[in-house]
Amino acid sequence: MVQTFRVLLLILVGLVEVKLISSVTDPADAAVLRSLKAQWKNTPPSWSKSNDPCAAPWEGVTCNNSKITALGLSTMGLTGKLSGDIGGLTNLRSLDLSFNRGLTGSLTPRIGDLQKLNILILAGCGFSGSIPPELGNLEELSFLALNSNNFTGEIPHSLGNLSKLYWLDLADNQLSGSIPVSTPNSPGLDLLLKAKHL
Ligand SMILES: *[C@@H]1O[C@H](CO)[C@@H](O)[C@H](O)[C@H]1NC(C)=O
Ligand SMILES: *[C@@H]1O[C@H](CO)[C@@H](O)[C@H](O)[C@H]1NC(C)=O
Ligand SMILES: *[C@@H]1O[C@H](CO)[C@@H](O)[C@H](O)[C@H]1NC(C)=O
Repeated sequence: MVQTFRVLLLILVGLVEVKLISSVTDPADAAVLRSLKAQWKNTPPSWSKSNDPCAAPWEGVTCNNSKITALGLSTMGLTGKLSGDIGGLTNLRSLDLSFNRGLTGSLTPRIGDLQKLNILILAGCGFSGSIPPELGNLEELSFLALNSNNFTGEIPHSLGNLSKLYWLDLADNQLSGSIPVSTPNSPGLDLLLKAKHL
């Protein structure tokens, strides 16, 4: 009897440990997600069921080894701003917030901190202001869609540094000036030899 109880206890302890290990989101990543949640309206219901984005997991959140690697929240009716806190998701590879017209305000330069970002899709949102030149820091970026927003100003020269880019769509904004061509001192979009969609 005591023996059976011990075995059961061991199994139980084992299960609890497995649960803890597999469910804990990196604390810094979790804090960023909670901050985004606090600033947005209409986040998915699963975002309110737990405090731990990778545990249950929260809808639209992909994790690997407790790090958040993708956020896919297209067409959710999200409203609010995209704060600089997003720059703390240092393992993010894909960010898709497309077709949430209620996401407004300027695009934070801290997007340029997401050094592993491969895919950035913000098409069909309500972002305004200029396109931050810091996007040119995203060395891994292969897909960049900022079309159908309210961006103004010029296309930053730094985008010419995105050597892995194969998809670039900036259409349907209020951008002015011409497509930057490289000069001896600055890169230009003509350097994007891989870009197929300009
Ligand atoms: C998860 O991360 C590990 C390295 O930490 C990597 O080897 C693996 O391919 C990743 N898995 C996915 C599905 O991205
Ligand atoms: C863009 O700005 C115009 C006014 O300049 C406004 O009518 C329109 O709704 C805005 N679009 C978005 C997506 O915010
Ligand atoms: C492009 O990249 C080069 C090399 O990393 C850097 O020196 C330069 O400042 C970048 N240009 C822009 C406009 O960001």
